[in-house]
Amino acid sequence: MAMTTSDHYFSEKQVSPSTPTTYAVNVRKLQLTLAGDRGVFNHGELDWGTRVLLENAPLPSGGELLDLGCGGGAIAAALATLRPDAHVWAVDVNERARDVARRTMTLNSLTNVTVAAPDEVPAELVFDAIWSNPPIRIGKSELHDLLDRWLARLSSNGCADLVVHKNLGSDSLATWLSGRGYEVVRHASKQGYRILHVTPPPHF
Ligand SMILES: C[S@@+](CC[C@H](N)C(=O)[O-])C[C@H]1O[C@@H](n2cnc3c(N)ncnc32)[C@H](O)[C@@H]1O
Repeated sequence: MAMTTSDHYFSEKQVSPSTPTTYAVNVRKLQLTLAGDRGVFNHGELDWGTRVLLENAPLPSGGELLDLGCGGGAIAAALATLRPDAHVWAVDVNERARDVARRTMTLNSLTNVTVAAPDEVPAELVFDAIWSNPPIRIGKSELHDLLDRWLARLSSNGCADLVVHKNLGSDSLATWLSGRGYEVVRHASKQGYRILHVTPPPHF
């Protein structure tokens, strides 16, 4: 993959100066301290879509869990706190986001999270659950490639919960996923977000 250097939150390298922050959030009865920084998605506040996912997605029972596109690590930190016996992978292409996510885990004394670049995740690993606020703004074909890559790594009885706003294409994404053979159940929220609950085809 070509190295990108700009200030999109999904670029591998950030050119803006680092300005680290921390902030407190209450979500799903958890009190978390989150790290943030410039060039990292929604730094300084919890995204509404992320909150909708955290408040409403069915909690995985454990095993190997993935926060796909972890940003500052809010989802990974919540999963790791709610499921201390699970192992959580927090994966992001943005190097600064990975640094911020590591800081989030330290701030919350979480030792059951591995923060990694996509290619650092062992190839043989399969996931029992994926939670993601996916990077819609990378473009449709890039998003489809991303989901093809990681949903294929769900265990046969695994599932993924993806939060996407209806104005950002949740319905067309659900249709695309169904066309790939996944079973997709849509849960609507008042704020216009959809949680797509995705399970692999039976022959997986
Ligand atoms: C919408 S943000 C969500 C961030 C965080 N999970 C949250 O909820 O606050 C999506 C994240 O996906 C990351 N991303 C973009 N392309 C990616 C890729 N190919 N592999 C992994 N992460 C990617 C971006 O860098 C960004 O941090």
